[in-house]
Amino acid sequence: GMRGIVFDLDGVLTDTAEYHYQAWKALGEKIGIPFDRAFNENLKGISRMDSLERILELGHKENDYTQAEKEILASDKNEHYKELILEITPKDLLPGIKAFIEAAKARGLRLALASASKNGPVILERLGMTDYFEAVVDPSTLEHGKPDPEIFTKGAELLGLPAEECVGIEDAQAGIAAINAAGMFSVGVGSAESMKEADLFVESTADLDLDEIMRAAAAK
Ligand code: BG6
Ligand code: MG
Repeated sequence: GMRGIVFDLDGVLTDTAEYHYQAWKALGEKIGIPFDRAFNENLKGISRMDSLERILELGHKENDYTQAEKEILASDKNEHYKELILEITPKDLLPGIKAFIEAAKARGLRLALASASKNGPVILERLGMTDYFEAVVDPSTLEHGKPDPEIFTKGAELLGLPAEECVGIEDAQAGIAAINAAGMFSVGVGSAESMKEADLFVESTADLDLDEIMRAAAAK
């Protein structure tokens, strides 16, 4: 049976996906590359530098900046993002997510965090959720970002569980691809269209139902 859950953070525990979007959008506009929410779906789950590359490619400007200049752009975005997340409190947990996590703990499931964000531990702390997670994958130790399975494989490894005994929960297309490639049961939070590769999907975290997920994962 299932023994662990590996969670994404941004867009699953809290709505920081929206802040990432706001911060990238502002940077995009500053450098003459405006984009919308549909394009932003391609940035969810993607590391800071890879996100910048995708935006520059969208504007055909990937060769207009040196590596040092790109690092400044990425760091400007991160400074803006850090301002946006300054006010996060436990009230910013997405609907139902705390009850879901508590139900998982009550069932004896082991929990790990697999966020691509270097700000992940700070956000987890601000949400008051650090103690629920036995393991947090450090994204700076990874060779490949999502959609590569590495971050989820590592999450299961840190829990000491085989991937097949873990469920992964994500709001990003790249994240669902990573969970599937890791051989875990994938649960998507988002629209049917963006979550079409997920084994099971819900439109809101409020609809995450532990019993339903455990049944579906066991039946796969
Ligand atoms: C992911 C987000 O969790 O973390 C991405 O979905 C973000 O949007 C990535 O780019 C990296 O985050 P950070 O905080 O290290 O820039
Ligand atoms: Mg996410």
